[in-house]
Amino acid sequence: MGLVSVANTQPRLSTFEGWTLREYAVVASTNLVAATLPAWSAVRSDTQTNGRGRFQRAWVSDEGGLWLSAVEPAVGDTIGRRAMPLAAGLAICESLQQLGVSHVRLRWPNDVLVDDRKLAGLLIDQFSLGLVVVGIGLNVRNRPENFDASLKNCTTRLADLLPEPPELPQLTVVILRHLRRVWLELERSGAAALFLRVNRLWEASRKVELDLDGDLRRGVFAGVDDQGRLILKNEAGTTDFYDAHQVRHLTET
Ligand code: BTN
Repeated sequence: MGLVSVANTQPRLSTFEGWTLREYAVVASTNLVAATLPAWSAVRSDTQTNGRGRFQRAWVSDEGGLWLSAVEPAVGDTIGRRAMPLAAGLAICESLQQLGVSHVRLRWPNDVLVDDRKLAGLLIDQFSLGLVVVGIGLNVRNRPENFDASLKNCTTRLADLLPEPPELPQLTVVILRHLRRVWLELERSGAAALFLRVNRLWEASRKVELDLDGDLRRGVFAGVDDQGRLILKNEAGTTDFYDAHQVRHLTET
């Protein structure tokens, strides 16, 4: 199926709790469909032909996974902007905890892992001033390793973690509800309380290597500070703080 006909397919529309949800059988990328939609729109597709991951990587989007994008208003100030990707990761973790998933943790900034295997990834895009698209890829009953052998033993899925994983429409409602709740908390009460909750989700302090656009720094990742900056205790015994845009990639070592 060509991309033009994909884009022209009529979605199933529904509304709930302030969200307008468009559901498709197939799109190129839900983030790209969401790019032109207003705040509190969401797009879910059964599959994506051009699923996008961070760092321009392809994202395997096979049938049975949750491929969802949510449009949120950008929170105005610098700390709010720093907080939004972290708040989105927090909302996904809190959704999963509510569903009964144990040992959920974050890897900076917002990869969601269970036992060191990736369960969900987030791609935050800003296509227009004042709106942020939060793209969520969550493995549910799909088998991404069948489409990319390098993912074998690196990913997990809800079907492996829960006796009865939710159906995709139910999971969509739970996640959108948490995204909106966490966004409202950020808007109304500020980022400080959210950063405290986010900092509980990294689990143990971990040795990491930061790639600052080719400049590599090693140390121990110690969460985020009260302004949302990454804290790195470096090998010299001092502490450095990094804004997300300075860090191209974090590798746990
Ligand atoms: C990552 O690299 O970890 C982020 C992956 C994000 C994938 C999701 S699936 C829904 C949305 N649409 C996309 O094309 N990407 C995101």
